[in-house]
Amino acid sequence: MESQCSSATGSIVKLSSFTILLVFLLSCFTFTSTEAYDALDPTGNITIKWDIMSWNPDGYIAVVTMFNFQQYRHIQAPGWTLGWTWAKKEVIWNMMGAQTTEQGDCSKFKGNIPHCCKKDPTVVDLLPGTPYNQQIANCCKGGVLNSWVQDPANAASSFQVSVGSAGTTNKTVRVPKNFTLKAPGPGYTCGPAKIVRPTKFVSADKRRVTQALMTWNVTCTYSQFLAQKTPTCCVSLSSFYNETIVNCPTCTCGCQNNSTEPGSCVDPKSHYLASAVSAPSKSSNTPLVQCTSHMCPIRVHWHVKLNYKEYWRVKVTITNFNYRMNYTQWNLVVQHPNLDNLTQVFSFQYKPLTPYAGLNDTAMLWGVKFYNDFLSTAGPLGNVQSELLFRKEKSTFTFEKGWAFPRRIYFNGDNCVMPPPDSYPWLPNSSPRLVGSLLYLAMTILASLIFLISSA
Ligand SMILES: *[C@@H]1O[C@H](CO)[C@@H](O)[C@H](O)[C@H]1NC(C)=O
Ligand SMILES: *[C@@H]1O[C@H](CO)[C@@H](O)[C@H](O)[C@H]1NC(C)=O
Ligand SMILES: *[C@@H]1O[C@H](CO)[C@@H](O)[C@H](O)[C@H]1NC(C)=O
Ligand SMILES: *[C@@H]1O[C@H](CO)[C@@H](O)[C@H](O)[C@H]1NC(C)=O
Ligand SMILES: *[C@@H]1O[C@H](CO)[C@@H](O)[C@H](O)[C@H]1NC(C)=O
Ligand SMILES: *[C@@H]1O[C@H](CO)[C@@H](O)[C@H](O)[C@H]1NC(C)=O
Ligand SMILES: *[C@@H]1O[C@H](CO)[C@@H](O)[C@H](O)[C@H]1NC(C)=O
Ligand SMILES: *[C@@H]1O[C@H](CO)[C@@H](O)[C@H](O)[C@H]1NC(C)=O
Ligand SMILES: *[C@@H]1O[C@H](CO)[C@@H](O)[C@H](O)[C@H]1NC(C)=O
Ligand SMILES: *[C@@H]1O[C@H](CO)[C@@H](O)[C@H](O)[C@H]1NC(C)=O
Repeated sequence: MESQCSSATGSIVKLSSFTILLVFLLSCFTFTSTEAYDALDPTGNITIKWDIMSWNPDGYIAVVTMFNFQQYRHIQAPGWTLGWTWAKKEVIWNMMGAQTTEQGDCSKFKGNIPHCCKKDPTVVDLLPGTPYNQQIANCCKGGVLNSWVQDPANAASSFQVSVGSAGTTNKTVRVPKNFTLKAPGPGYTCGPAKIVRPTKFVSADKRRVTQALMTWNVTCTYSQFLAQKTPTCCVSLSSFYNETIVNCPTCTCGCQNNSTEPGSCVDPKSHYLASAVSAPSKSSNTPLVQCTSHMCPIRVHWHVKLNYKEYWRVKVTITNFNYRMNYTQWNLVVQHPNLDNLTQVFSFQYKPLTPYAGLNDTAMLWGVKFYNDFLSTAGPLGNVQSELLFRKEKSTFTFEKGWAFPRRIYFNGDNCVMPPPDSYPWLPNSSPRLVGSLLYLAMTILASLIFLISSA
């Protein structure tokens, strides 16, 4: 991250110190602000809703539903883990559609033993194929929560919990505290539960409306900064008009260090490969990557392929370098000014994203179901590709100054590190790179300012 800021400023040392300062502050500020808050999905969140459906002599039965309101960030296998802390001495008598990972100490109960007596229960989804008598609607997907754009029908997950030793009216019940959501690693931060207007349920024939006895909501938001300290994805570039292939920046996601950490990456030709891949990992979150100069689990390559009179064509390739992860239902978010005239997308699904009115330079791309929505582990099958056909807008289109390259790329909602703008392949005999990167910077800053102003 620091290197992005410094390399951006490095190429403009000849400018006045004021401009340098401004550029530096803006580029660094926008970079950090995209980590804490996602400008391309400003309201993205996961909302957890508790609907109390009935009061019991010693507590209540609630249906808990998690809605993934994020446009392009999903939770893939091994799925979500939800935790909270009870406000009083509540216990869970029974659960449907999910289970707690530990029962805890239920020794003070005789006869009927609760499902969980822990003060801070941890809940996981049940797996597909759970017996029908343990299911409820929207449950049992192994914790997978799809993104709102990609598969809204599977963007929610529910379970039912029957709580004892709890309040038995809306005046005595206490909302749980300290909600935690893992996916399964860190990244999400949950706010406090807020009592909201009771949910209304409309019957299938729409002739009757019922309502929950009481409802509270919890909102959880994602920050890439909390999820991992290092990037997980990088971008490489090439074009038909220049033979240079601009690789991902060296050490984007880590450095090869044979002396201190042998085995921090795997050479695909080594005999060690099979045993390293099958060895139990410390955590399924830790990637085991193929040795590359960038060491990223994911690389997105953008190749400017063809130039027609009215159109131009780009080939996008996503390569998986991680031996420990099949990416299911992966997605890509791309920002490029010509995306408002994207004419055709071959072999990927596509939807424009408009986080703000009038901003239509952003698109989401994802795989076609049963064809390329599964990005296999590193190896010969570990890549997917597509081509994009853009219609030229005469007033803005150019191959100069890196215009044909993307401004920003996310893979599965995480920012992919771009090469520094002054290294982009340039047109033979084009203007000096100083001017090129300056214009590029100016454009980026303008775009960032628009984001900042419209989000204020
Ligand atoms: C969560 O997302 C929903 C749907 O986009 C939105 O209506 C709601 O305001 C968001 N909540 C917060 C706290 O951002
Ligand atoms: C509790 O229920 C009563 C009606 O039974 C309602 O008037 C009151 O607003 C409810 N309070 C809360 C906090 O939901
Ligand atoms: C909630 O979590 C915070 C920090 O982890 C802790 O200080 C606090 O005591 C917790 N509250 C409860 C009720 O457990
Ligand atoms: C609570 O969550 C539900 C489901 O996401 C939503 O429909 C409702 O508007 C939310 N209420 C508030 C006040 O955020
Ligand atoms: C490898 O680790 C050693 C010892 O920690 C360190 O001095 C060296 O700079 C590292 N090399 C690279 C390429 O990161
Ligand atoms: C680590 O080892 C690999 C293969 O043995 C070699 O290609 C690479 O240059 C080495 N890296 C460093 C930093 O020594
Ligand atoms: C990836 O998927 C393949 C095919 O479904 C499976 O054989 C393999 O075990 C999976 N690998 C991991 C690390 O999940
Ligand atoms: C893109 O934004 C411009 C400017 O606001 C607007 O005129 C145009 O209709 C938008 N295009 C699409 C496809 O939404
Ligand atoms: C590009 O898209 C914009 C907005 O949709 C439209 O006004 C314009 O005519 C398009 N340009 C071309 C060359 O199709
Ligand atoms: C291709 O672009 C690179 C910059 O990445 C530049 O150094 C090189 O001179 C360009 N090649 C030609 C033929 O212009």
